[in-house]
Amino acid sequence: MTMLSDRKSLRVRLGGSAGYPVVFGNLDLLPSTLREVGLRVGRCVVVTDRNVADPYGIRVDKAFQGDGWEPLVLTLPAGETTKTPQHLHAVYEAALKWGIDRRTPVIALGGGVIGDLAGFAAATLLRGLPLVQVPTSLLAQVDASIGGKTGINHEVGKNLVGAFHQPELVYTDPDTLATLPPREWISGTAELIKHALISDRRLFEQVQQELPQFARRQTSVVHDFVFRSAAVKVDIVSRDVKEKNVRAYLNFGHTFGHALEKASGYGTITHGEAVAIGMRAALYLSRRFSTKLEHARAEALVRQIPVPPIPADLAIGELMRAMQSDKKAEAGRLNFVLLRKIGEPYVTSDVALTDVEAAWRHALMPV
Ligand SMILES: NC(=O)c1ccc[n+]([C@@H]2O[C@H](COP(=O)([O-])OP(=O)(O)OC[C@H]3O[C@@H](n4cnc5c(N)ncnc54)[C@H](O)[C@@H]3O)[C@@H](O)[C@H]2O)c1
Repeated sequence: MTMLSDRKSLRVRLGGSAGYPVVFGNLDLLPSTLREVGLRVGRCVVVTDRNVADPYGIRVDKAFQGDGWEPLVLTLPAGETTKTPQHLHAVYEAALKWGIDRRTPVIALGGGVIGDLAGFAAATLLRGLPLVQVPTSLLAQVDASIGGKTGINHEVGKNLVGAFHQPELVYTDPDTLATLPPREWISGTAELIKHALISDRRLFEQVQQELPQFARRQTSVVHDFVFRSAAVKVDIVSRDVKEKNVRAYLNFGHTFGHALEKASGYGTITHGEAVAIGMRAALYLSRRFSTKLEHARAEALVRQIPVPPIPADLAIGELMRAMQSDKKAEAGRLNFVLLRKIGEPYVTSDVALTDVEAAWRHALMPV
C-alpha cells in the first residue's frame, strides 16, 4: 500500500499546531488515507451532489465499504442554490437520524458548494465533527477546499452564515476533473490564474506558456498546475489562518467580481467568470498606481479566460452599488487588492470612485 509519505502532498500550518495535509492521490485510496490521518474506521457521512455522484458516488461508496467503513451517502441537488438552510437542515436530519457521534467524519465530495455546505454541517453537528474535503471541481481543488472557511448563503447575500472549521485532510484526485463541464473548467482556471498573478513570476510564466495544454486537459500539465496552484493557497492560509492580513490577497479581482455576480443576478455568470472580469478591473487600477507592472502581459493572460457576454443593460451605477454592499466593505470603505508587479500584491482603500468607474468600463470592454 502507498503510504502518505510516499505521495505528493502539502501541509497547511495552523499557528503552532501540526495543521493538516493536502494529499494528491487516486480516489480509491481515500478510505485508507482517512485511517492514516487517524480518523476512526466506522460510520462516515459522505455529502455529494448529483453531478458528482453520477461518475464517482458508487466508486467512493464501494471504496469505503471495501475498507471496512459504513458510509451514509447523501446526494444533494447540484449548484449554488443548494447552499441554503433547507439543504443544511436535510444533512442534519439524515445524519442525526442515522446515528453519528463526535468522531464520525463528514466527507465533502464535490465542488465548492458541497465543500462549504458539508463543511458547515461538520462545524455545527454535535459542536464539530471531523471534516475531510474531497474537492472534485478545479476551483475547489486549487482554492475552496483549503483554508477552513465553511458556510451557506442567506437571501441577503452569499456566504453570510458560516464558520471556520479546518479539515483533518484535503484529498485531491486531479483525474476527477476529467468529467468537469467546460464552463466549470473555465471558472477554476480564473482562480488558478489569480494564484499565478499574486504569487510568483515563475508560476505566472509557466501558466502563460502552458495554458493551451492545460485547457486541453493534458494530464501532466493538469496535475502540475493543480498542485502548484493549491500550494499558493496553502502558503497564504498558513500565514493567515483567520483572514486578518495576507489572506486578503486571495481577493484579487473579487471586489469587482462579487459585485458583478450580484448585479447580474447569481447564476447568470459563474463565480470564476466574474473573477476573470474583476481581475481585468483590478489590473487596470494596479497600472494606475504602479509603473512596474507588466500590465499588457498580465491582461493578455486574464483575457484568455473566456467569459459570456455581460447583459447590455447592466449599468456601472448598479455595479458600484453592489460593490458598496459587499460584506467585505469595512465601514463603507472599499478595499482593493492591487499588484505592484506580478507576484507582489497589496491592499488599498485609497482609490477614487472615478477610477473605480473607469476600471469597470475597461473590464467590461469585450476586447
Ligand atoms: N470556502 C472557501 O474558501 C471558498 C473559496 C472559493 C469559493 N467558495 C465557494 O465555492 C463555490 C463555487 O465552487 P465550484 O465552482 O466548485 O461550484 P460547484 O460546487 O457548484 O461546482 C460546479 C459544478 O460542477 C459540478 N462538478 C463538480 N465536480 C465535478 C466533476 N468532477 N465532474 C462533473 N461535475 C462536477 C458540480 O455539480 C456543479 O454543478 C461557491 O459557493 C463559493 O462561494 C468557497
